[in-house]
Amino acid sequence: MGVREGWRGLVEGLVEPLGPREISGLLPRGGTVLGTTRTNPYKLEGGVERVLETFSREGLDALVAIGGEDTLGVAARLFAEHEFPVVGVPKTIDNDLSATDYTFGFDTAVTVATEAIDRLHTTAESHNRVMVVEVMGRHTGWIAVTSGIAGGADVILIPELPITVEDACAEIRRRHERGKDFSIVVVSEGYELTYESGETRLVAGEARASDQFGHVRLGGVGEALAHEIQERTGYETRVTVLGHVQRGGTPTPRDRVLATRYGLKAAELVLEGRFGRMAALDGDAIVDVSLAEATAELKRVPREWYDVARAFFG
Ligand code: F6P
Repeated sequence: MGVREGWRGLVEGLVEPLGPREISGLLPRGGTVLGTTRTNPYKLEGGVERVLETFSREGLDALVAIGGEDTLGVAARLFAEHEFPVVGVPKTIDNDLSATDYTFGFDTAVTVATEAIDRLHTTAESHNRVMVVEVMGRHTGWIAVTSGIAGGADVILIPELPITVEDACAEIRRRHERGKDFSIVVVSEGYELTYESGETRLVAGEARASDQFGHVRLGGVGEALAHEIQERTGYETRVTVLGHVQRGGTPTPRDRVLATRYGLKAAELVLEGRFGRMAALDGDAIVDVSLAEATAELKRVPREWYDVARAFFG
């Protein structure tokens, strides 16, 4: 059976058969044929009770929850509070779930972002410009650091280890003084503009009613940063916001294989009745970890990763 629209489907009883016909041809498709929403049953009056009711009314034995910190956070809580028979599969482009080396979707997003950086080099070099590329990732800089290293970015700004606007401009100036008259700057959407004075500024919109996990809509920091760079360095600076382009299209072979392996592990966990667990990647091995551990805190980019990127700044 397939549950439509994420947790909303269990709250509202949107459950339908998922047979061989419905699941054929999925490998090259991005997104989800079931649809998704940012519904949090814990934020709805009687939401959790309705999830439990739908589950028993439909005669279901187990639930496989596929998603990131929000989706799996609900799964972890349902398991802890109701012994709900759920197993998790880590899926988010942000790669910010703990207890797994990679989530699926991330490799595809990084591939798209890297290709964009490669393409932006053309204009940067031809027109002697600074090109700022804003990528997604919410409150972690995994996409920025990984695509930035792969694409040879000259400066990368991420939420976890925020360098100052002054330092970013100094790197760009140093580079231009060394005879390179273009630069590529990658900024993660969750980076807060940070100044030597200690002042910080998060460029973000309002929280949305449709997002019951309370996330603000990020986006716009690229524009603000580009403005600062142009003002401070005098170099012509342009911005490209990759947005949902990096979240769509056909998945990379690596993501397809990872999702397939996670799927098999999830099936095995269900058959063995090992609920409250999540399929995870440890090195090259598929293992299982507790949902509670996976969702306890965000997996942030560690300094060693940022240092690899930083070695090539300027
Ligand atoms: O969590 C995945 C993600 O793509 C984030 O990187 C981004 O901030 C957010 O979702 C965008 O969500 P929406 O499409 O709902 O604006």
